[in-house]
Amino acid sequence: MPDNSVAARDLSRLSAFYGEMTSVDGVLGGARAAGLDLGDLSAADLYTRGLDLHNLGGYPELESVAVAVELIAAPTSDDLVLDVGCGLGGPSRFLTDRFGCRVTGVDLLPLRVDAATALAERLGFASRVEYRAADATSLPFEDGRFDQAWMLDVSIHIRDKRRLFGELARVLRAGGLLVVHEQMGPLPPAMLPLKRRAPYFAPSFKQFIGIVEDAGLRVQMWQDTTALVLAEFYRRRDVLSSIDASSLRGAAAVAVRRGHRLIEGYVDTLESPAGRAGIMVATSQGH
Ligand SMILES: C[S@@+](CC[C@H](N)C(=O)[O-])C[C@H]1O[C@@H](n2cnc3c(N)ncnc32)[C@H](O)[C@@H]1O
Repeated sequence: MPDNSVAARDLSRLSAFYGEMTSVDGVLGGARAAGLDLGDLSAADLYTRGLDLHNLGGYPELESVAVAVELIAAPTSDDLVLDVGCGLGGPSRFLTDRFGCRVTGVDLLPLRVDAATALAERLGFASRVEYRAADATSLPFEDGRFDQAWMLDVSIHIRDKRRLFGELARVLRAGGLLVVHEQMGPLPPAMLPLKRRAPYFAPSFKQFIGIVEDAGLRVQMWQDTTALVLAEFYRRRDVLSSIDASSLRGAAAVAVRRGHRLIEGYVDTLESPAGRAGIMVATSQGH
């Protein structure tokens, strides 16, 4: 286990929350259900269907983030990109497919790093992406190591945002890009069921930008993605509603009920005036 500065209570709640969403067999089962040939699976087969993504806005979010970054400076094939909170690795494989860059993904939870690694090996990505268990507030990398750092829907789980953005500024080279997708606070009561299950800390937009700039990063762009994310949650709700839950028992029935609660929490949040998600791109000012 890495040097872990995340509070023990946050770690155990994150492990429980994401543990049950972490399964290579689950990803492959989703691919089979989508009619894909498991013997001839590509990374794009998975991420374009959101099968290995746990971001807010699924594949449309990935595309929007890539287009936003291209307006400033797309990663080149010589670049090394850090994917912070890499989850099952879908975003990192998208990044290498789209830009030809190499990617190092880190996630707090070793279970997710193992799943990301297993999927990358199966998809033939082992030479282009690597994954490590690491806490984003205490990164095991030297100063200035990365050309870009991408962090999609991760910071909301991290209590100490000053330490988080300080670490990201430290590991970026001067002029490197920090690319974030995130939901802004304050979170409305609709998020309470989710907050009971996992740590969620969402500063207001103004506070968020202040923390990023205090870390020595200069914000270049903010692009609101609330409508895109909401559309993705409507799509997920339709998919889940098509499952006949009355035929399910045990863990499967619990998972469907939880899925409905999670989606409703997000829909209510994003439909409320307080709910807001977006892409932020910032440049490192050097050390
Ligand atoms: C909503 S998921 C997003 C995963 C991935 N970025 C994606 O778009 O599919 C949040 C991820 O952040 C990870 N995470 C939470 N706190 C972290 C920390 N302190 N350091 C590194 N990863 C963290 C979780 O384990 C989880 O995989």
